[in-house]
Amino acid sequence: MSLPHTIYINGQYLDGADALVSVMDRAFLFGDGIYEVIAVCQNTLVDEDGHLQRLDRSLAQVQIDLGTRRKALGFLLRQVVRRNRIIDGLVYLQVTRGTAARDFHFPPNTVANLMIAAWAKQLPPPSGKTGIKVITVDEIRWQRRDIKSTSMLAQVLAKQKAAEHNVGEAWQVDTDGTITEGASSNAWIIKDGTLITRPANHQILKGITRMSVRAIIENHQIPLVERSFTREEARAADEAFITGAGAFITPVTHIDDTPIGTGKPGPLTAKLRDAYIDSFSAHA
Ligand code: PDD
Repeated sequence: MSLPHTIYINGQYLDGADALVSVMDRAFLFGDGIYEVIAVCQNTLVDEDGHLQRLDRSLAQVQIDLGTRRKALGFLLRQVVRRNRIIDGLVYLQVTRGTAARDFHFPPNTVANLMIAAWAKQLPPPSGKTGIKVITVDEIRWQRRDIKSTSMLAQVLAKQKAAEHNVGEAWQVDTDGTITEGASSNAWIIKDGTLITRPANHQILKGITRMSVRAIIENHQIPLVERSFTREEARAADEAFITGAGAFITPVTHIDDTPIGTGKPGPLTAKLRDAYIDSFSAHA
């Protein structure tokens, strides 16, 4: 994948190759930053409000202050999408604690670095129809997975393992044998017509797609239970899927080589996927 054409950084729109921050940026040194990824589908920013609200929450949790620039974000996101000529793709936003001499505690009088980039991606993703396989990996992340932090070495390792196994996602398994979530998505299973997904506490990221899908489930009066589930339960499920910006609702056909249900995308998953896409396509 080539670099984005145009990247916004601290008030400037720069050529992708020229958009540089100092090596003393806190995210470069410590992973001390927060990010968001928003899907762009037919020029519409999908679930924009939810993503910006979660950004506010993450920033507050780690005490990074974006100041008055927060108000401009909607405009800036659209500018970056337009300047990169994105119809379908992803817009990426990152806020770091800023550039300062290396010291662990918060540096005084440091201004946050704000970066926004966007790139094209086929959306809805083709894998939404074909499904993906997943593998399970040990959960090795920290205890505040609800914060959308740029410290993501554990997810990088999980995704690398998934790539080596030629599968689309890695589901992380906690020490108690339950699935937390995918490396970059939330995990769902369906058994006997009931949807099961883990409650959104500190152990997982409260996915914005997850929240939109939950609203659709409620509208359709489909039974939903929010509880944790084990790897064995997942392998014995009738259907399984992931949610995330960019993944939307993507069926899971195999977990660790075990076929889920028929080993093909399930009917309820397909129905939810279509309903989710309709929910924002109607506004386009
Ligand atoms: N990841 N869980 C994790 C660990 C995630 O990184 C993501 C999103 C999700 C789904 O959240 P949402 O529905 O708000 O996208 C769940 C993004 C897409 C990424 O890192 O690229």
